[in-house]
Amino acid sequence: MIFAPSLLGANLLNLGEEVRRVESWGAEWIHFDQMDGHFVPNISFGPAFVAAVRKHTKLFLDVHLMLSRPMDYIDAFADAGADGITVHAEAEEPEEVLRKIHDRGLKAGICVNPGTPASALKPLLPLADLALIMTVQPGFGGQKMRPECLEKAAEICAMAKEAGKSVLIEADGGINAENAGQVLAAGVDVLVMGTGLFRAADPAGIMAAIRGSRA
Ligand code: DX5
Ligand code: ZN
Repeated sequence: MIFAPSLLGANLLNLGEEVRRVESWGAEWIHFDQMDGHFVPNISFGPAFVAAVRKHTKLFLDVHLMLSRPMDYIDAFADAGADGITVHAEAEEPEEVLRKIHDRGLKAGICVNPGTPASALKPLLPLADLALIMTVQPGFGGQKMRPECLEKAAEICAMAKEAGKSVLIEADGGINAENAGQVLAAGVDVLVMGTGLFRAADPAGIMAAIRGSRA
């Protein structure tokens, strides 16, 4: 199990301290939500933000691009120090972008929105290391998880197996202490959590409880 706290939920006035907090909780990854105001109705961060965090941590930097034209930004995020980049199946030229991410020596992820069937990933899984299932409509943190999206995890695993691939399954949106067990039971390996950790009174306790529930 991998925890990927989403900095969208962090106190951005205190970024250095928030990165130290994530490390102190024992999280493995840090998740970045990059939005372009076109693919989603919100704007966030940018490569300089990833570069700033890179200077403060060795954790795996998991960059989720909610951009219509991700190809234009792969080099910028790779240069900023991303370890993995995930792009949407609904965005432009996903196959070429996944190849480009690998060309840059990074882990490549492919993401589906709630309204996109898992079958859309079939031609893309052979090019990916990770599949990201959105459990909310992307754009904003703090939304309620849509549990029906979790059914895609089993479908994706079956398609990957058929293609002779092994991919990590990540879920993103509305995951919290109460529903994390359900997410893991569906076959998810990587939990993205924004408000569910950053706005909680005891994030380390929540992470320990979730890990304990699977031990
Ligand atoms: C939604 C983002 C999520 C979001 C998760 O567009 O992709 O990563 O930050 O935040 P919570 O956990 O608050 O839903
Ligand atoms: Zn995300």
